[in-house]
Amino acid sequence: MPTTLNATQTLGATFRANPAVEAAIKSILAELACSQQQLTGARPANGATRENLHSWLQRAADVRGRSGLYPYLGSGVGNGPLVELADGSVKWDLINGIGVHMFGHSDPMLVEAMLRASLSDLVMQGNLQYNEESIEFAEILRDEAAAHSRIRHCFVTNSGCMANEAALKLCQQKTNGAPRIIAFADCFMGRSTTMSQIGDTSAYRQGIALNVLVDYLPFYEEEFGERSMDRALWQLDQYIARYPGQHCALIAELIQGEGGFNSAPRDFFVALFERARKAGIPIWDDEVQTFGRTESMFCFEQFDLGEYIDVVTVGKITQACACLYTAEFNPRAGLLSGTFSASTSAFAAGVAILKRLKSGGFYGPNGSNARLFDAYRQHAESFVRSHPQWFPAIALSSGGESRRFTAGKGGMMRLTPFGGNKEKINKLLSNLFEDGVIAFSCGHGPYHLRLLPPIGVMKPEQFKSVFEIMERSFARMT
Ligand SMILES: Cc1ncc(COP(=O)(O)O)c(C=O)c1O
Repeated sequence: MPTTLNATQTLGATFRANPAVEAAIKSILAELACSQQQLTGARPANGATRENLHSWLQRAADVRGRSGLYPYLGSGVGNGPLVELADGSVKWDLINGIGVHMFGHSDPMLVEAMLRASLSDLVMQGNLQYNEESIEFAEILRDEAAAHSRIRHCFVTNSGCMANEAALKLCQQKTNGAPRIIAFADCFMGRSTTMSQIGDTSAYRQGIALNVLVDYLPFYEEEFGERSMDRALWQLDQYIARYPGQHCALIAELIQGEGGFNSAPRDFFVALFERARKAGIPIWDDEVQTFGRTESMFCFEQFDLGEYIDVVTVGKITQACACLYTAEFNPRAGLLSGTFSASTSAFAAGVAILKRLKSGGFYGPNGSNARLFDAYRQHAESFVRSHPQWFPAIALSSGGESRRFTAGKGGMMRLTPFGGNKEKINKLLSNLFEDGVIAFSCGHGPYHLRLLPPIGVMKPEQFKSVFEIMERSFARMT
C-alpha cells in the first residue's frame, strides 16, 4: 500500500513504519538466517567455484596494479566469525579487515539496520547535508567519552586517518601553529602524507617529501620495567628543553596496534602526560584500533586517564570515524569540514553497534571482552607448552630476550612464534589462510601473529577449532 501522510508525522517517518516495509525486511532476514545456518566451521574450496575466485583476483590485481596480501574475496555471506569466500571455502576470520567487524559477518542486527538505512533518501551524509543518523552517532560517542573525561564535542569523518588529520589541526590551532609533534616509536596513524610521516614505519615514508617534524619517545617495554619509564621521561624532557613551546601535541595509542599490541601501566602515561601538560603540550589519544575492544569502550577509561585527554580519535568498529575534543579545543569556523562523512548505512550500523556496546555486557574485568581474551590466552599458553620447538626466545630490538609468547588485551590478541622472525610469520600467515584461519601480523621486529577477532560474536569455545587449524599450519612450517 502506498505511504499516505499522517497529519502528525512526516512522510519519511510514516514510510519507515509502513507494515509492508516491515514485513519485507523481516522476510529478507529470515532468508539470510537460512543461508547462514549452513556455515558451521572452516571448509576447503569447492572445485566448481574455485575459478570464480581466481578470475576475480586477477581482475583486482590488474585494476589496482598489484595483488592483495591474501587470495580473499568474500561471497557476501558469513556467520559471525566464519566467512564464505567466492571459491566456496569457509574460513575463521580473526582479523576482520584489521579490526572493522566486531560483530563478524552477516550479523542480523546490522543487516537490519542497513536495510532500513538503504531506504533513506541519502546515500552519503556530510557536513552540508545530513539526517538523524549522523547526529545520533556523534552524540552517543560524545556522551560515552564525556562520562569519563572532559570531552565535549564530536566531528565525524570517513576514515581513521581523516579523524587524525582533524585532531592534528585542532592541536595546531590551539597551540598557534606549533610546528613539532611528539609521538611514540612504532606508532601507526594512517596513510595521508602527514600521518605516514608521524607513523613510525620506514616503508610508509619511502619516496614522500618529509615535511613533518616528529620527535619520538621510546614506548614502555615490560622487560625493562621502571627503567623504561625513566628513559621515556628523560627523552621527553630533552625535547621540551630543546624546543620550548614548539610542540602542538603528544600523540599516544594507549595500546599500540600495528606497533605490536604493546601497552604500558597507567603510571607510565600519567608521568608523561603530567610533564607534557605542564609544558602546555596537548594530549591526543588515538583509539582508532583500541576503541570498543578492550575492557572499556574508550581505552582511556580503563586506564583512568580521562582527565588528561584533550582530543581522542576513533574508527574501525564504529564504521564511521570521529575526532572528539574538549570545549577548549573547539576550533574556529572553517577548520573542519568535508563533503562526505559516511554513508547513511555506515551511520545506521554505527549507531546499532554503539547501542549494543553500551548494553551488551562487554566491559569490565568480567565482561565478555575480558573473558574472550582469557579463553584465547588459555588456548595459546597450552599451545606454547605443547610445542616448545615453535617458541624459541624472542630477541628484543632494544637488546635482551623475552619469553612472553602471548600478550594483548580484550579483542587484541598476539602470539609470537619463531622468535618473532618476519619471514617465518608471513609464511605461517599464508599457511593459516590456506588451512582456514585469517590472521595478520604486527610489530616491527620482533614480529607477532595478530588477531582482532569479532569479539561481539565469537564464543570462547570456538578457539578450540581455531587452534586445531593452527596446529596443522604450524606443522607445515617444518
Ligand atoms: C591506531 C590507528 N590510527 C589510525 C589508523 C588509520 O585508520 P584508517 O585506516 O581508517 O585511515 C589506524 C588503522 O589501522 C590505526 O590502527
